Amino acid sequence: KRPIAVLISGRGSNMRALIAACADPRFPARIVAVLSNREDAPGLRTAEEAGLHTVCIPSKPFGRDREAHERAIDDALRAAGTEIVCLAGYMRVLTPFLVGAWSGRMLNIHPSLLPAFPGLHTHARAIESGVAEHGCTVHLVTEGVDEGPILGQARVPVLPGDTPEILAARVLEEEHRLYPHALAAFIEGLVSA
Ligand code: GAR
Repeated sequence: KRPIAVLISGRGSNMRALIAACADPRFPARIVAVLSNREDAPGLRTAEEAGLHTVCIPSKPFGRDREAHERAIDDALRAAGTEIVCLAGYMRVLTPFLVGAWSGRMLNIHPSLLPAFPGLHTHARAIESGVAEHGCTVHLVTEGVDEGPILGQARVPVLPGDTPEILAARVLEEEHRLYPHALAAFIEGLVSA
């Protein structure tokens, strides 16, 4: 099993999906650390309850020095023996430092069918634009925000009467299926490469 770390900022439901997947002996990854930039992230408690190694590194003490914050994260990732990093609702834009340090080994899940709707408020924007289909994407992290090579996508219909919340819930269910699936496929690809 490949040692992975999960980076979160909040609820951590995608992290929970990865924890569940890793519990299967046939799944090719194990979680060696869960990192959060927020002490109050509910997902941090979930990870602790699951008996995982958790690290909280708030950005505040680093002031405007985003790279110093990321160096602390990078140190924690390496100390845990991480090989692959999974961003799961990690809500900070990364600098070229951390992206470069984990190039080709850092995945992100984004709540839209990229390249449509990068950035925030994806569900509201999907409804406003009148698209018939929406969904989620797992991709490799590169310097351009939400721009890296796509590893997998899952689609849902946008239905009449959808609110951003209703649509988000429909997409989230697919995220929980997609992320473990795309991660496993990515790892199998590394192995066969
Ligand atoms: C998920 O919908 C994820 O796709 C999104 O935040 C949510 C986190 O939920 N990520 C982004 O918007 C990244 N820019 P979770 O904490 O329950 O996994």
